[in-house]
Order: sequence, then structure tokens, then C-alpha cells
Amino acid sequence: MVETAHRNTGVEGVAGGVGVTALLVAAARAIETHRPDSLAQDVFAEHFVLAAPASKGWPVRPEEVTDGDANPLWGRFARYFGLRTRVLDDFLLGSAHTGGVRQVVLVGAGLDSRAYRLGWPAGCVVFEIDREEVLAFKHQVLDGVAAVPKAARVPVPMDLRDDWAGALPGAGFDPAAPSVWLIEGLLFYLPPAAETYLVDTVDRLTAGGSALAFEAKLEKDLLAYRDSALYTATREQIGIDLLDLFDLSPRPDSAGRLAERGWSTAVHTPFDFTRLHGRGPLPEPNDALAGNRWVFADKPRGS
Ligand SMILES: C[S@@+](CC[C@H](N)C(=O)[O-])C[C@H]1O[C@@H](n2cnc3c(N)ncnc32)[C@H](O)[C@@H]1O
Repeated sequence: MVETAHRNTGVEGVAGGVGVTALLVAAARAIETHRPDSLAQDVFAEHFVLAAPASKGWPVRPEEVTDGDANPLWGRFARYFGLRTRVLDDFLLGSAHTGGVRQVVLVGAGLDSRAYRLGWPAGCVVFEIDREEVLAFKHQVLDGVAAVPKAARVPVPMDLRDDWAGALPGAGFDPAAPSVWLIEGLLFYLPPAAETYLVDTVDRLTAGGSALAFEAKLEKDLLAYRDSALYTATREQIGIDLLDLFDLSPRPDSAGRLAERGWSTAVHTPFDFTRLHGRGPLPEPNDALAGNRWVFADKPRGS
């Protein structure tokens, strides 16, 4: 199947490697939750950060951030994650409430607590795919705060570099019924073959009326931004070298691939939504966020 030798193997769970990035996003969501002008609320996020040794000492509130919004990591980058959370919350809830979709698939779910914090319609099922160790940590923390999901929740422990397509139907997912999929903060960690397999699998497992949102990075050369304020601050403040975790191979054109298969796609920059919501990051020189795109795709009904 897809290539399995990969730079993010080695450390499993959230102790290090790519799993620790789930904690980084959780810390950003915790900070966002406590902002006076918060765009998204995640009361579970700080519990993950406080429980994991790898995130010891990280801030979970805006008042704990030295330099506030001027801090490239816990200011600007955290604002990015807050905005992303809100935009993708709205996307998923729109598909469920307006589009009538009842199956939600979070791919590379990490410490995403949407199954516990969003108002899902009756009959909704949320499938969460991530590696076993990450999901085990998540359950341990959520059980510790007696969290109760607001939809039926089905964890699907899988490594997305393996042949995982059969796991979802095996977990109760119905490919004949419409579904909404989210691939947030994941693709740039995967080898290109695993990304292509993922997109083809989404196409194969979706009925007409389904939707997908994913985050991509368009740069031909990710290393061009190695000395950007964002990557530098992430290395210096918490010791995470994101570029070392990314798969630096040329990325496939996943939006184009979906369009070839009849999906309609809309490609946005995060800055489009900063302008819409009145907060979030804006472009800056040598910007590690310059190539980030949020892609929204719909599979026409009847296809
Ligand atoms: C940056 S986190 C994003 C988590 C979540 N989507 C969010 O936005 O909060 C990346 C997640 O992708 C998961 N991931 C990375 N490579 C993976 C793989 N090969 N198989 C399954 N999950 C993977 C990690 O374990 C981690 O939870």
C-alpha cells in the first residue's frame, strides 16, 4: 500500500513526534476559549495540555502569553488555530443541520473535541480516525473530566499510512449515506501517496450530497520559510521543529483531483476568513502561513 517508512514514526502518542502537534493545537484552542473576543469555545482543550508531560508549562490562557498577540506562536499562530476551529465548526454544523448529513468523519482527529462540544442533530455519528496512542490519551483525559459526547462517537484507531479504507465501514460507517469529512492540520505530515490514497478513499466512500473540508499547503518549497517568525518561535519556545515533522515531498493537487472526479471545490486563504470575522492572522513578510489553503468540496447529489 502506501509508503510506510516515514519521518514521523518513532514516537507514538502525544509524547513527541507528530502527536505533539495535537497538543500544540489544543493549547491554541484553550487560549482562544479564554479570549474576550473568542471565535471558538473548547472547554476540554486545556485539560489535554495540563495532562501531558510534553506540554508542561505551555500557556492555556491569553494572560499567560508573554507579549500577547505579538507572540508569533501563542499570539498569531494560536489566533490562526482559533479562526480555523471556528470556520470548520461552522462548516461541519452547516452540513449536519442544513445539509442533513448524519455521518461526520474527522481524519487525523487528534484532540479535536467536536463530538463533545458542538450541538449535533439527533442521529449524528462522529467517526474519529487517528493513531491508537493519541486516541488512548484523549480518552484518558476526557474520562477524567467525565466528558459526555453530544453525538454517537466512534474512535477508529488507524495509521493513515496503512491500508485503512476498510476500517470505516467496519466501524459502522455507511458509504451509501451522505457524510461530511474534515482533514484539518494533517495532510502536510503525510507522504504524498498517503494523501492521494486518502482523497481517493474519501471519493470512494462518499455518496452524492457529501462534503469535505481540508487544509493544504501550496508552497513548492516549505523550507523557504524556515526562518519565519512562526517556525522560529515554535522551535525556540516549545522545541518543536514543524518543518522536521512535515513531509517535504512535492504535494499532490488534491483539490484538482476531486474536481476531476466531479466534486465542486472552493479554495480559500485563511486571510479571507480573518477579514470575514474581523480577527485572525493577516499576511506578513516571510509568512509561514502564506501557502495555507482551506479547501471546501461538495459531491453533487445524484453522483
Ligand atoms: C496537528 S494535529 C491536528 C489534530 C486535529 N485535526 C486538530 O486540528 O486539532 C495532527 C494529527 O494528525 C495525526 N496524524 C499524523 N500522521 C498520522 C498518521 N499517519 N495516521 C493517523 N494520524 C496521523 C496526529 O496523530 C495528530 O493527532
